[in-house]
Amino acid sequence: MPRTLTRYVCQQCGRVSASYMGKCPQCGAFNSMSEEVTHPESVSKKKTAVRGLTGRSEPRQIAEISEDVEERLLLPIGEFARVLGGGIVTGSIVLVGGDPGIGKSTLLLQMAMEMAITKRVLYVSGEESERQIKMRATRLQADGNKPELPAQLFLVTETNLETVLNHVRDVQPSLLIIDSIQTMYLTELDSSAGSVSQVRECASQLRELAKSSGISVFVIGHVTKEGAIAGPRVLEHIVDTVLYLEGDRFQAYRLLRSVKNRFGATAEVGVFEMRNNGLNEVANPSEAFLAERMVNAPGSAIAVTMEGTRPILVEIQGLTSPTQFGNARRTPNGVDFNRLLLIAAVLTRRMGVKLSEQDIFVNVVSGLKVDEPAADLAIAAAIASSWRDVPVRAEVVLIGEIGLAGELRFPGQISPRLREAAKLGFKTAIVPKAIRKGENWPGGIEIVEARSLAQALDAAFIAAPKPKKGRKVA
Ligand SMILES: Nc1ncnc2c1ncn2[C@@H]1O[C@H](COP(=O)(O)OP(=O)(O)OP(=O)(O)O)[C@@H](O)[C@H]1O
Ligand SMILES: [Mg+2]
Ligand SMILES: [Zn+2]
Repeated sequence: MPRTLTRYVCQQCGRVSASYMGKCPQCGAFNSMSEEVTHPESVSKKKTAVRGLTGRSEPRQIAEISEDVEERLLLPIGEFARVLGGGIVTGSIVLVGGDPGIGKSTLLLQMAMEMAITKRVLYVSGEESERQIKMRATRLQADGNKPELPAQLFLVTETNLETVLNHVRDVQPSLLIIDSIQTMYLTELDSSAGSVSQVRECASQLRELAKSSGISVFVIGHVTKEGAIAGPRVLEHIVDTVLYLEGDRFQAYRLLRSVKNRFGATAEVGVFEMRNNGLNEVANPSEAFLAERMVNAPGSAIAVTMEGTRPILVEIQGLTSPTQFGNARRTPNGVDFNRLLLIAAVLTRRMGVKLSEQDIFVNVVSGLKVDEPAADLAIAAAIASSWRDVPVRAEVVLIGEIGLAGELRFPGQISPRLREAAKLGFKTAIVPKAIRKGENWPGGIEIVEARSLAQALDAAFIAAPKPKKGRKVA
């Protein structure tokens, strides 16, 4: 009879405690502890066995170690490859997180089908039957130009990780996909699938597999209500790369974002559009995002945000409307709530835009989340434009961070932003006044430098409105 041990594990951060605690002392989460029963002997035995997989390690002088660039499998989906840093690194483990129904299985099945043209691929699902997956595969291929399903793609529905590892031994794939890590379990742990212990142990074993065999492993992870991958931190530390698939479920655009990457730059973004035949790459996101713009309507301004190394133009919409009862409401969609409060306060105090009895709605068209302060100026312009009922000039982009005194600050990477705006036919960019003399502006677009929010808005509106009495110019 193996000795068992009851312990309590925080499902948020993995903190272990001998007794139940209402509040986790490590991460502060409430009611996050759940009971788990373990057999210490079997776990420790398994641990050493797994370690053995990597073979003997031996310290070497740094100069002796060869530094060949890591080997990458070519991935024909360009937007996906970009986010990974250019192809799939062999022996790496990648976590793909995202809200339910956002398209994680679709994206990875598409990748599996592309890769299976040249390599062996094993797709393990703990959520859907082989038939369901095949139906999806057929749909994804519906109007493609490849007539047959790839012969080297193997599907299996399985949740027992030991069995999965046996399948891997049999199939010998170059690429393994696990959909999802929360459905996998190891029999030696008594906690249920999806608990922190199971998720951590399963992910560790998959990492060992990747490192020892050179198989590239993609793992799907569900996202909790709070927006973190269930069993979050522990999982993010184990894997090499963390990608999030995000987007507004009611809109077609999906963004694949890298938040951690041991083999490439983070903050890189791939843009897709969800259609019948799956996720289609959007090569020109700015163009797509601006396609439905109403020109010369009040309450709209164009921001240029950097997503990784790529500048993207987005329309920011603002609407102010007199508060009917109670407190004035601020409703941001795609921008940070606190950022909106700050911008509204600066507009009220420095610009005489009386927003205290106005509800404010701000929307980033396309479902993109803009968390860069460089979009402040466009947000402010959209709100002020709606309040004054005067449109922002159609051919203008606004770039700049707003300070508390109503001053404008220079954002990073201004040149690529301006080049992208010029490429899309915008004539004027309103930017903060450069502190350094002799800033080399790229050609093709007129630059209007503004020291303050007031100067920027005067330049932005169609007919510069007369300055209101009592307005302070910072
Ligand atoms: N027959 C269909 N035609 C068009 N689009 C479809 C069809 N079936 C599903 N979709 C789209 O695919 C999305 C579901 O994608 P997918 O199953 O890949 O998501 P997921 O992130 O894996 O979800 P889950 O978290 O439930 O596993 C749906 O929200 C829908 O937009
Ligand atoms: Mg799925
Ligand atoms: Zn905790």
